[in-house]
Amino acid sequence: MSTAVAEAPPAVAVNASPPPGPKVLPGFVQGMRMLLTEHRMLERYRARYGDVFAIAVWPFDPLVVVADPAEVRRIFTGDPAVMHAGEGNGILGPLVGPHSVLLLDEGEHLRRRKLLLPPFHGERMRVYGDVMRELAAAEVERWPAGEPFALLPAMQRVTLRIILRTVFGMQEGGGMDRLERDLTRLLRYSNAMMTPALQRDFAGRGPWARFKRARDEVDAQLFDEIAWRRAAGAGGDDILSMLLGATPDATDAELRDDLITLLVAGHETTATTMAWTLERLMRHPEILAHSREDGAYLDAAVREAQRVRPVITYVMRQITAPFRVGGYTAPAGATLGTSVTLMHRRADLYPEPHAFRPERFLGSKPDTYGWVPFGGGVRRCLGAAFAQYEMRQVLSTILERCDLRPDDPRPERHRRKMITFVPARGARAVMTPRA
Ligand code: HEM
Repeated sequence: MSTAVAEAPPAVAVNASPPPGPKVLPGFVQGMRMLLTEHRMLERYRARYGDVFAIAVWPFDPLVVVADPAEVRRIFTGDPAVMHAGEGNGILGPLVGPHSVLLLDEGEHLRRRKLLLPPFHGERMRVYGDVMRELAAAEVERWPAGEPFALLPAMQRVTLRIILRTVFGMQEGGGMDRLERDLTRLLRYSNAMMTPALQRDFAGRGPWARFKRARDEVDAQLFDEIAWRRAAGAGGDDILSMLLGATPDATDAELRDDLITLLVAGHETTATTMAWTLERLMRHPEILAHSREDGAYLDAAVREAQRVRPVITYVMRQITAPFRVGGYTAPAGATLGTSVTLMHRRADLYPEPHAFRPERFLGSKPDTYGWVPFGGGVRRCLGAAFAQYEMRQVLSTILERCDLRPDDPRPERHRRKMITFVPARGARAVMTPRA
């Protein structure tokens, strides 16, 4: 934790002192409190210390919270040799593998990112529209009419299947069902990986052993699929085929890590964003009706849902050298955490910040450094265009096919699930099919 100039107002002139922040609690206690009451506590600290302040949230010491668009711009466009993100993602290593773009920094990161980017170009996404709509329609068919059910698991099923079809290039039936089942299990077991103390085998038993077995089963299927695809030669619109075509020298291990990375980065994030969007739409029936009629308005509603209910609340950079931020100096080794929540609640950027108003995003692009659910700079989410296209296809299919209302008119609270924020009750809804 930084030694703080606790109650000092934010400095205007540059000085060498670290950013201010609460200094009363040790990292672990403050970290726990933070996790339990994150949003309220952040607002309180911002009121007290300004747009840049330091807190100790295990395992970061310090975490410098940043909520000023001008500073966020400097961070996102900063030198990649100073702004590391890969190290902080190290905990994902056992799942995503050593070649994952998520774990790399500097030159290695840029090289790998460049290989992955072309298949995610915005224009290309259109080839996936039919599959996305077809899988969404099949999911709606399974929903019970007139009985409460949770939308979040439904969105997880759709996004997983969409990734299997469009990214992995699997076909319906046989292999795809088995991989879907085994991946779901692997993701469930991967909690074990988040606690280094649990990463031990107990004579082939325990959560870690279970995780490794589930991973080996998934990997065997992925290696078979890659081998089969290499043998079949080029062709195919899916992202694995594009990667095989563009990088014939890539090893099977690299391709496996790419596939799991895209799944891990793209599945829960998109599913949760859609669940929140529906949670908000159901409580604003006039906005829901407008979104059903007008695709551009639906896109704006999704952006607004991402603003008021961001799924990922920090964009992290670990700095390798002292960095000037908000008039203070953050020491080498500190983590800069752009607070998506605080940025999105700035009344100067978003008047009445707690109101759900898609009109804010109609006819203009969101501000690059004021609307940051996808991060920014050389690490910006490389699936953003994919996710936005997918959310339009899936949500418009759902709205066309059924009426949805909340099972309880009160807004759902949020709950932390690993690094994401999800609707506490899973976005519960009651569905009526539309004639
Ligand atoms: C609404 C859905 C999504 C959200 C909110 C989201 C959010 C994010 C965020 C916040 C980052 C970190 C950015 C940074 O550090 O500046 C990120 C990175 C990434 N995302 Fe997404 N994401 C979504 C969907 C997807 C999808 C669908 C894919 C791929 C199929 C994907 C692939 C990736 C990858 C590979 C990275 C790492 C980029 C790098 O390190 O260079 N994401 N995403």
